[in-house]
Amino acid sequence: MTTVPTEEESGSGVRVREAERADLLAVFHIEQEAFPQPWPFSAFERFLDEPGFLVAQVRDDADSRETATVGDDGRVVGYVVADVVPNHGESLGHIKDIAVAEACRGQGVGRRLLQQALTVLATENVASVKLEVRESNETAKRLYRGFGFEHHGRLPRYYSNGEDALVMVQEF
Ligand SMILES: CC(C)(COP(=O)(O)OP(=O)(O)OC[C@H]1O[C@@H](n2cnc3c(N)ncnc32)[C@H](O)[C@@H]1OP(=O)(O)O)[C@@H](O)C(=O)NCCC(=O)NCCS
Repeated sequence: MTTVPTEEESGSGVRVREAERADLLAVFHIEQEAFPQPWPFSAFERFLDEPGFLVAQVRDDADSRETATVGDDGRVVGYVVADVVPNHGESLGHIKDIAVAEACRGQGVGRRLLQQALTVLATENVASVKLEVRESNETAKRLYRGFGFEHHGRLPRYYSNGEDALVMVQEF
């Protein structure tokens, strides 16, 4: 496993910031590694100006010689894509995609990304936030439950292999 320095350990660690065009290859690489049906590159391009498209990057001043080197662009180790959609006269936040480079999982990066995405959505006055997750994805479900997301419904055969999606919602 590749060790990502935490803020506490290194005094710097991972920084979560808005995604830029230069991040897209690394993001796409992580997406392909993480999902059997990855988003196309163009999908990420479309979200470039969304404030909820964030990346986690190992900070330049971190003791990072032994840290992640995903992509060619400065050690982007994860991302989240969130946006706001209208919903019966209210604004609904939507976590559309989140992934962390396989070698860097289990070190708090996903939690940092989701926390920051929810903070961005909160500034956009959403009433609630929804997401879809594979029924079998216990790791992600546990992450979401940790933020207060609760089971809200089921989308039968949502994925191309016939698996159902669970809809989870967090009320703000
Ligand atoms: C889901 C994912 C983004 C989590 O990122 P991560 O950086 O590994 O997660 P973190 O280290 O921040 O852990 C956050 C929480 O996730 C859960 N979690 C993380 N790794 C886990 C594991 N191996 N088993 C069970 N739960 C786990 C835990 O609830 C954890 O909180 P805790 O440490 O307080 O118990 C990452 O596993 C991933 O990229 N998976 C592939 C893509 C994916 O499935 N995305 C979600 C699509 S809906």
